[in-house]
Amino acid sequence: MGDGIGVQFGGTKYLWGNVPAFDILEMASNEGETYAGDLHLLFAASGDLRNVIKTIAHLPSSYDHSLEITINDRDLDIAARNLIFLLVALIVENRDEAIDCIIHLWYSALVRVSDIEILNNQIRPLIQDVCEKVKSKSPKTILGKTWTFGKRNLRIVLQQTSWNRLLSFFDKPVGLTAEMASQIRADNTLAHSRRDYRDRYMTYLTPPNESHSTKPNPTFFQTIDMWPMKDNADPHHGWSLEEVSNTSSGAATADTYGKLFFYIRGVLDSFLDRVSDLRVSFKLLNFDAFDLPDHLDAGSFSRIDVSNISDIGWLGIHRTLYLMVPLLQTPAQNPHATLITLFMNAVDETLTVEDQMQGLTPNSRATKTLLQYLPPTGKPSSTHDPTLIKFSYGRELVGTYDHIFERYMRKFEIRKAGDLLGAMMKENHTIIEKWPYRLKLRPGQPGAQDEFDRRMRDGVSGKERYVEWKRVHQGIL
Ligand SMILES: C[S@@+](CC[C@H](N)C(=O)[O-])C[C@H]1O[C@@H](n2cnc3c(N)ncnc32)[C@H](O)[C@@H]1O
Repeated sequence: MGDGIGVQFGGTKYLWGNVPAFDILEMASNEGETYAGDLHLLFAASGDLRNVIKTIAHLPSSYDHSLEITINDRDLDIAARNLIFLLVALIVENRDEAIDCIIHLWYSALVRVSDIEILNNQIRPLIQDVCEKVKSKSPKTILGKTWTFGKRNLRIVLQQTSWNRLLSFFDKPVGLTAEMASQIRADNTLAHSRRDYRDRYMTYLTPPNESHSTKPNPTFFQTIDMWPMKDNADPHHGWSLEEVSNTSSGAATADTYGKLFFYIRGVLDSFLDRVSDLRVSFKLLNFDAFDLPDHLDAGSFSRIDVSNISDIGWLGIHRTLYLMVPLLQTPAQNPHATLITLFMNAVDETLTVEDQMQGLTPNSRATKTLLQYLPPTGKPSSTHDPTLIKFSYGRELVGTYDHIFERYMRKFEIRKAGDLLGAMMKENHTIIEKWPYRLKLRPGQPGAQDEFDRRMRDGVSGKERYVEWKRVHQGIL
């Protein structure tokens, strides 16, 4: 067993989400199914499209006003993929073909010839046309293009240089073969130096569970030597394992990736169904969130999802509030208007050695709870015994972290920052729970063991903390 836990490895891009998707509107329980106003939603650091898709898939069928969705990410790889997926959704007429093409381009290192044909024959000409028109503009000029498809439209705003780069997402790098693409992926996801990490992960899984895919996915490979994501990036991490587990994949009940495929198919189908009769405008942007206020109308958004750029390692909560609160509608405009911030790292950044030691004592509540989920089966054979590894991860899952997050909030004076910037934390969340991935059942309750076992392998740690904000006044700053 090597040193350290939690050291990252591989690329730094988030082509796949690392926290489950959620509906950022929850319209039925907020504005209500009969709401008769237009809605503007902002995804300020979108990552992939999963929250957009889930939100639209859940939109009540009665809603027939217009929906404007602004999707921003500073990473062109992300913005380009989101553009391509939306164009496939809006252009490809055969629903099943559109869904399968999106899933392959989203998740597969190697894609089918038919996916490349859709890219080249149906999507590329639209982009190429714009590139022709903007080729004589200066590189930094910001240029927008709107395509209209019946009641739906899609606008993208990019710097001139980025328009040219967009075309690179349609072609694999020259010389990259399918064998090389598979090898690049394996060098990352199966790197020898990372074997401890994989072994640890495998101990949390149930035992095992491949193709017509022959073409390197050009939306993954921008160079011939690089896998863009971390070695442990997993398509499962962007979706609720509970919902995925409850999806049927036929006789192969333990085929979790099969279930995931059918689950995403279902969500995409509901998304396409809803989009087909909706007055919807998608606006794709590729700015740093820092520059968003220069491009968006103040007080115009009913919901703002910032992903976890509120974490210190990204923008941090102070800058996030400073930039986003003015963009949110006031309660007078929409009492349900909400800014949703996520803290994925706050707890780990705040936990002290003393906090951790407290949970380790044999009589601690955490140890007692854990022993009920993972009863000892004998004396561990060595310090690398898998049961010890499982035990140490399980201990984190059974913990509660309210007091740790409270300490974090005090340290960074988060309530005061909200006050200065005209925002208040919502005591009662109306979109997503404060700690959605904490264990909900107690050991011994029906379904508790299943819940624990699922949490052991689903990629979330239970320390993810959402904070919902509403505007309260103008703000002092
Ligand atoms: C915060 S990251 C982390 C991954 C995230 N938890 C998820 O599941 O997608 C999500 C996205 O935010 C984007 N991002 C980070 N900082 C940003 C900023 N200042 N402005 C705009 N986008 C940003 C990244 O490019 C990435 O695609």
